Amino acid sequence: MIQTVTQLPELRSRVGRWKSEGLRVAFVPTMGNLHAGHHSLVALARSRADRVVASVFVNPTQFGPGEDFERYPRTPDQDVAGLGEAGADIAWLPDVEIMYPYGVEGTVHVRVPGVTSMLEGEHRPGHFDGVATVVSRLLNQVAPDIAVFGRKDYQQLAVIRYMVRDLAFPVEIVAAPTLREPDGLAMSSRNQFLSSEERRLAPEIHRCLQEMRDAMTAGTPREEAERQARDQLTAAGFQVDYAAIRRPDLLEPEPGISGPKVALVAARLGRTRLIDNLEFDT
Ligand code: PAJ
Repeated sequence: MIQTVTQLPELRSRVGRWKSEGLRVAFVPTMGNLHAGHHSLVALARSRADRVVASVFVNPTQFGPGEDFERYPRTPDQDVAGLGEAGADIAWLPDVEIMYPYGVEGTVHVRVPGVTSMLEGEHRPGHFDGVATVVSRLLNQVAPDIAVFGRKDYQQLAVIRYMVRDLAFPVEIVAAPTLREPDGLAMSSRNQFLSSEERRLAPEIHRCLQEMRDAMTAGTPREEAERQARDQLTAAGFQVDYAAIRRPDLLEPEPGISGPKVALVAARLGRTRLIDNLEFDT
């Protein structure tokens, strides 16, 4: 039976008890409104540890002005039930006062340089500061042995890896594959905002990622492959923030001719912003 925990001393004593029994603890942070993609992270966590803590916290510090913090869907009862079915032992649901005891304005910030200055970082200034800030708190609250993050948010994963290494958090970061709808659209809490016409168009992002991969494999220069993807998405009705091919891991802009790469896209359909990526090798 999953336990909902809302107070930090209770969380610490439960996790502390497991650790004193020699059990390995995994952690899956989320913002709720969970779908099968999140549940797959819990299942992966379950397979890698004895106990699983999953958090649900819609983090105000990672939303910019005019972004969708207010309208971000909040479905805690459904989330806790789904987490339990997926194999979590504790649902950690802290209030904003527990996460930010000095208030959101008085927050100590964790700022990760370099990898946050491009792509999502360029289009959502301050976003990754909010992510790094809340994830550092969550890791200190839960104190897990491993923490699972989805490759869907590829740059977020890079930021977390960088932060965990630089601040010497005693945790292993595990990357989980992206779960997709049958037509290729990456699952996301934001997909429900799409109109039926937008939903029909949305899988074009995944097709463009595959085309970027195929173009690079066929020897097309990087800039040309990126331009083709941008043009194709724009023609289909998207407003494109970026379509980029990078080195994996820290996303340095100059991938070699051969070797591992990642293609990343962020594009808007109406009011809804979608991101996706695809790793490949040339
Ligand atoms: P959220 O968007 O709720 O995502 C929680 C986790 O689920 C992230 O690690 C994300 O990469 C993963 N995820 C989302 N969609 C997925 C999919 N289709 N397949 C596999 N994994 C998927 O990411 C956040 O919350 C927040 O930034 C957080 C890390 C919780 C900090 O607030």
